[in-house]
Amino acid sequence: MQFSVQAIDSIKRHSECLVLPLRQAQPLTAQAKSVDKAAGGIIQRVVSQGDFSGKPSETLLLHPGQPNTYPRILLLGLGKNPLNEQQYQSAIRALAKVLIKLPVKSATVALQQIDVAGRRDSWCAEMFARLITEASYLFTRFKSNKQKPSSLSRITLATTGGKGAQALKKSLAEGRATGEGVNVARNLGDLPGNVCTPAYLATQARALARKHLPLSCKIVEEKEMRSLGMGSLLSVTAGTKQPAKLIVLNYKGGDRADKPAVLVGKGVTFDSGGISLKPGAAMDEMKYDMCGAASVLGAVTAVASMQLPVNLVGIIPAVENMPSGAATKPGDIVTSMSGQTIEILNTDAEGRLILCDALTYAKRFDPEVVVDVATLTGACVIALGNHATAMYSNDDELARQLLSSGIDSADRCWQMPLWPEYDKQLKSNFADMANIGGRNAGSVTAACFLARFTKEYRWAHLDIAGSAWNSGANKGATGRPVPMLVNFIRNMAS
Ligand code: BES
Ligand code: MN
Ligand code: ZN
Repeated sequence: MQFSVQAIDSIKRHSECLVLPLRQAQPLTAQAKSVDKAAGGIIQRVVSQGDFSGKPSETLLLHPGQPNTYPRILLLGLGKNPLNEQQYQSAIRALAKVLIKLPVKSATVALQQIDVAGRRDSWCAEMFARLITEASYLFTRFKSNKQKPSSLSRITLATTGGKGAQALKKSLAEGRATGEGVNVARNLGDLPGNVCTPAYLATQARALARKHLPLSCKIVEEKEMRSLGMGSLLSVTAGTKQPAKLIVLNYKGGDRADKPAVLVGKGVTFDSGGISLKPGAAMDEMKYDMCGAASVLGAVTAVASMQLPVNLVGIIPAVENMPSGAATKPGDIVTSMSGQTIEILNTDAEGRLILCDALTYAKRFDPEVVVDVATLTGACVIALGNHATAMYSNDDELARQLLSSGIDSADRCWQMPLWPEYDKQLKSNFADMANIGGRNAGSVTAACFLARFTKEYRWAHLDIAGSAWNSGANKGATGRPVPMLVNFIRNMAS
C-alpha cells in the first residue's frame, strides 16, 4: 500500500473513493457541505433520512452518480465528542474493513477532519497507516479457495494545505513500516510447526538481512553452541530431529561507538512440553511459542525499513521441544553458558532454558539495554489476560520507557515485581536453581529465573503469552509487541 499526502482544496475527483468522516448530531462542516453539493445533496439526504447517524465507527457507502465528483463516498462516523484513542482505532479498523473490499485501486481520506483527544495529527496519521496495513494481512497459503488480496494500492490523505505535509508523510511511512513489521510477526506466528521450524526462521532472518545493507545475519549451529557451553539451550533440543539455531541479526544504523539495544526472542517453533508432555486440548496453539522470535524479526524489519539511526541486535534461540528416547528428563541437571547449573524439574518450562543461554550470549555485544520477548508462561495469561504484556525490569528507567512506548503505540505492557521473595521459589536441593518455582506466581518466578542471567546489563523481560495471539474463532497471531518495540527503539534513536 502506498500512502501519500496531498493538499486538496476542491471536491473534484482525485481517486475512486472519498472517505469523509462525519460527526454525529452536528451540521455538516464547510468541507462536507461542498462535497455534498457536488454529490447532488446525497450526504445531507442520508443524514436527514436517518440512514447515517455518525455513531463512532459507523460506515455508509454512497454512489452519488454525479459527473464531477468521486464515484464513491464512504462516510465514517465520528460520534459526538472528540474520539478517544480506542474509538479512533476502532473507527479506522471499521473503515479499513470496508475500504479494502471495494473494487478500487485508490482512495482519498479526509483524515484531518478527525480529532483524537490528546494526540497530534502525526500520531493519527501513523496509526492510520499502521492499522490499514494490518487490516490488509491475509493468511491464505494453505487455503485452496484463496481470498483475493485487496485491489486497493494507493491512499492519499487530503490536507487543507500548509506546512506539516512532510511530517505527515514521515508518520505515514513509519506507520506503514510498523504495520508491515506486525504482519511479518503474524505470518510467522500463524505458520504451522511443520513449516516454521528453527531452520525456517533462520532462512527468513538471512533473507531479511539480504534486503538491508546495514543488516547482517549469523547463524550459530549446534556444534558451536556446544563449544560455547550452551548446555541449557541444548537440553531443550535433545528430543527433536530439527536442528536448533541461534539466529543473530545485527543492524548497524547508528554510530560505531553507540552501544546496541539487544532484543532476544523465544523461538520454540513447537512446544509439546517434552517428556513433561502437555495435555492434548489446544496443543496446536503451541505453534505460537515462537511469537517472541517473530516479534524480534518484525521489529528488526520495521527498524531497518525506517532506516533508524541506531545499533540493534536481534538474538533468536530457535528450537523445537519434543519428547523422545533422547529427550531431557525431569530431574536432569544441566550447566548453562553462564556456568550456573539448573535442575530441570519440568521439561515444559523450556523457554527460560533457551533464553538464559541467549541472554548470556548477549553480553558479547556490550549492550546498552537488553529486552527479551517470550510466550513464557500460562500463568501470565491468568494474571493479565490478552490485554497487557507482562513487563519485568531490573532498571526503573527502562521500565518507564517501555511503559510509555506501549501507551503511545496502543500496545501496552504492565510492570510486575521481581522481588527476592519470589526468586527464593527457584531453590533446588541439587543444583544452583530449579527451572520451575511452583504453582504460585508462575510468570514472576519465570522472570526471576531469567534475572539470574542478566545481572550485568540493563534488562527487561516481556511475557507475551497472553498478548501474542487470539484463541477461539479469531485464532491467530496478533503481531504484538512489535509496535511497542519499534516505538521503544525509535525513542532510543532520537
Ligand atoms: N509456552 C509455554 C507457555 C504458554 C502456555 C504460553 C500457554 C501460552 C499459553 C511455556 O513453555 C510453558 O509451558 N510454561 C509452563 C511453565 C510451567 C511448567 C512452570 C506453563 O506455563 O504451564
Ligand atoms: Mn513449555
Ligand atoms: Zn514454551
